[in-house]
Amino acid sequence: MENCAIVILAAGKGTRMKSELPKVLHGFANRPMLGHLLAATRALRPARTVVITGFGAEATEAYCNAHAPGCEFVRQTEQRGTGHAVQMCQPLLGDHQGPIIMLYGDVMLTTREDVLPTLLARQAENPLGLNLLAAKVENLQGLGRLMHHNGRLINIEDKDCTPEQRTITTANPGIYGIHGPALWPLLAKFTPNNAQHELYLTDIIAHAAEAGLTVSMSEVKAERPEMGINSRAELAAYDALYQNRKRMAAMAAGATLVQPETIYFSFDTVLEPDTTVGPFVTFGPGVSVSRNSVVLPFSHLEGCTIGRNARIGPYARIRPSTTLADGVHIGNFVEIKNATIAEGSKANHLSYVGDADVGANVNLGAGTITANYNRKTGQKNRTTVGKGSSTGSGTVLVAPVTLAEGSYTGANTVVRKDTEAYSLTAAAVENLHKSNYSKPE
Ligand code: UD1
Ligand code: MG
Repeated sequence: MENCAIVILAAGKGTRMKSELPKVLHGFANRPMLGHLLAATRALRPARTVVITGFGAEATEAYCNAHAPGCEFVRQTEQRGTGHAVQMCQPLLGDHQGPIIMLYGDVMLTTREDVLPTLLARQAENPLGLNLLAAKVENLQGLGRLMHHNGRLINIEDKDCTPEQRTITTANPGIYGIHGPALWPLLAKFTPNNAQHELYLTDIIAHAAEAGLTVSMSEVKAERPEMGINSRAELAAYDALYQNRKRMAAMAAGATLVQPETIYFSFDTVLEPDTTVGPFVTFGPGVSVSRNSVVLPFSHLEGCTIGRNARIGPYARIRPSTTLADGVHIGNFVEIKNATIAEGSKANHLSYVGDADVGANVNLGAGTITANYNRKTGQKNRTTVGKGSSTGSGTVLVAPVTLAEGSYTGANTVVRKDTEAYSLTAAAVENLHKSNYSKPE
């Protein structure tokens, strides 16, 4: 919607989080709530996106600038309620002629694919009125209730409900659309006449009806955790729901998940068809796994691209900026960081490969280590291993160092100098040998 403005309320402290971090920067699946929300609103191609910041404004604005450039900010220095927050936007959006969509930064229902399109469809049918969504949920504690009073739709907050009103099961997720110019006169009528002495955005419903606007409401299906995240327990409950959806989507797209309920996804995890993931695998951000590859149990992957027919784990740790080509095998207790490993190469046991470029068909023996860190200079140095090379168990490659193509190293060798192609480098020290050393007297 090219003429639409999105307003995201993100100024609140999130008192119930008990945190120094603004609530909307708390996240799940390795992305803050605000990031999930901005991804959903970006899909609408709005003309403007305004984020209302307050508590921890610098951090919230820095996040937006880094991950969703083009956002505009309004500072609400005192958090006097959701209605007050939107009032602060008038200097910026007072002249906006198209629809204004108002969203709470902690309501993840908004990010579900079907939800914003439902609101926008309402908005298109009723462009000059107020449009909102409603949801039937089982537990409404803490949520606003939508109800009819004297023939008009109104919202009553949980804290302001009579015991009878509390039994109403239609909840307000706080997803509103309104014709821009109609918004400001309604906001001017707000009073803090409620249990929390705040200006409630929810009062817009009653004020719109009073002003003769058509108030139109669509009901969407919702699970309670989607309705708002106010505490760490609610964040965990939403994450559980989100993870389950991710797993179902991965399986529907052709991945095999063994004990899926134990596998943790990031928002951007990509599993191609015919990949298999074992129990207790954790995907950090930025992972893609290509066809026919297997990730075995208890592996932890982030920031890596894995080719086809690869085998990772069990108990492997793949860290950012890693590319593993087709047919690579990474075994147990192997850590890989900032490295490229070419086709068919293997590091099957107990290795650290960091800041390295490993050619094709290399075998890194058990316990091969790249000593990449120079403690004196504080620098990380690179190791290059030529194709077809093979390192003996316990080889230490002191970077910067290059093993030329087809280099072999013996067990327990420390390699400090570059090697020639097809050479053997081995520790030359003879073993100390004592006869009858431990023979009982
Ligand atoms: C709000 C709604 C409630 C709805 C529920 C859905 C109001 C009065 N109540 O309640 O009807 O069912 O969300 O989750 O709107 N914020 C500001 N400035 C403020 C206060 C809040 O920017 O002064 C932001 C917060 O950062 C948050 C959002 O607005 O992202 C909602 O505020 P929150 O305190 O979570 O409202 P709820 O009590 O959950
Ligand atoms: Mg809330």
